[in-house]
Amino acid sequence: MRAKHPLLFVSSLAGFVAMAGCRQDMHNQPRYKPLAPSDFFGDGRSARPVVEGTVARGHLRIDKARYTGKENDMDVTEFPFPITRADLLRGQERFNIYCSPCHSRIGDGNGMVVRRGFRQAASYHTDKLSKAPIGHFFDVMTNGFGAMPSYASRVEPDDRWRIAAYIRVLQFSEDAKAVHDANIQSKAVYLNIPFFIGRALIYFAVWFLYSHLLTKWSAEQDRTGDERLIGKMRAISAPGLVVFTITATFAFIDWIMSLEPHWFSTIYGAMFIIGEMLESFAFVIALMIVLSKLSAIKKFIMPQHLHDLGNMMFAFMVLWAYLSFSQFLIIWAGNLPPEIPWYVSRLRGGWGWVALTLVVFHFATPFVLLLMRGIKRRAHRLFRVCLLMIALRLVDVYWITEPAFFGQNIRIHWMDFVTPLAVGGLWLAVFFGQLRSRPLLPMRDPRLQGAPREMVAF
Ligand code: HEC
Repeated sequence: MRAKHPLLFVSSLAGFVAMAGCRQDMHNQPRYKPLAPSDFFGDGRSARPVVEGTVARGHLRIDKARYTGKENDMDVTEFPFPITRADLLRGQERFNIYCSPCHSRIGDGNGMVVRRGFRQAASYHTDKLSKAPIGHFFDVMTNGFGAMPSYASRVEPDDRWRIAAYIRVLQFSEDAKAVHDANIQSKAVYLNIPFFIGRALIYFAVWFLYSHLLTKWSAEQDRTGDERLIGKMRAISAPGLVVFTITATFAFIDWIMSLEPHWFSTIYGAMFIIGEMLESFAFVIALMIVLSKLSAIKKFIMPQHLHDLGNMMFAFMVLWAYLSFSQFLIIWAGNLPPEIPWYVSRLRGGWGWVALTLVVFHFATPFVLLLMRGIKRRAHRLFRVCLLMIALRLVDVYWITEPAFFGQNIRIHWMDFVTPLAVGGLWLAVFFGQLRSRPLLPMRDPRLQGAPREMVAF
């Protein structure tokens, strides 16, 4: 059919084009806002009330256990639907997204957020949680627990079950730690029990050999006065310093650093060895002062000797402080995730006070005291500084070791007292046994006679 009125056709076409170009978005349409008044219905409302019992789509939760994790107010013990491999994989994925920041990928409660100072999250590997019914995990995710917020808004109910299933997997897998932790796995070549014990045997063998040879030759010299023995002792002692440094570094890495296998520090060995030297000086000086009251060595000990020994102790104390602070400074400045948690757990909670005690009494106080001649040259005063040093060395080792077990919470355990007493007691018993069995002074050492003049501290 042909248009009889071209004008009408053109104008209606123009109108059509204009209308098509004119956007009218859905959200601009005339409509009632929810609950807005309207006179369309008799009761003045714009919409009809929903029929009683109406449920929003996707919210028909007849299966109560599935959406609350509870039945008759008790946590359910069975999964509401069969868990397949796909469910577990999904659970693992959701777990790693939502839970691992605090609970860690292996569920030990030491996730990144916790290592940066958030409240310690629960470990799933405790007795309590291993035995907890599965509904409990669902409930914790749905409603939160203590410091842990609810995850209901982020993890939909079925995913919560899948996460719970994955937590069960973590709990069941006995060596979940090593399996999930590539870092630890790569260290397993070194950090395994047979090699660990083997190394400890080597350290002790080397140390025992050295102490055996040195005491044997020293006793021989007391007997025979053979001067060549001094040369022999020197000849093994010089490389012995290197041997000792290497074995002791490995020993401290094995025995203390490996308690936290993720963490490492290259200053560690030196820090401990210098601390050990400091402790040895404090111990030997204190013992010498006591013995000088009781025995004939008194006449060989001049104030100058005490002064020199006090200076040596001072030097090692400052070196200890330097190394300890360097480690702190480097790690703090680097602020790297694998490194910083070591300090975070040692500076929070009560541990901060212990650290402060170390700064004040292991460093600042002896620093001032040992600068004074009047203290270094008087036996009874130096003796007290030595006791302070010995006590604070123990605190330092405690501060370094203990947080590896309990994280940020100080927990005093009876073993904390019994272990130093037992191990230290054993050592002291052997030490005093040896000390008693031979003369206190190396009477035939030619250097002894020249001691007061040359001011050699033996
Ligand atoms: C922001 C850190 C954080 C996140 C993320 C987190 N949790 Fe927790 N969770 C905690 C803390 C902290 C506790 C210990 C709560 C307390 O004792 O106050 C805890 C405790 C728990 C407990 C133990 C409850 C009990 O009975 O002792 C379970 C189970 C748990 N969380 C599961 C999960 C699951 C599953 C997720 C992932 C959906 C998750 N958490 C995510 C911090 C977190």
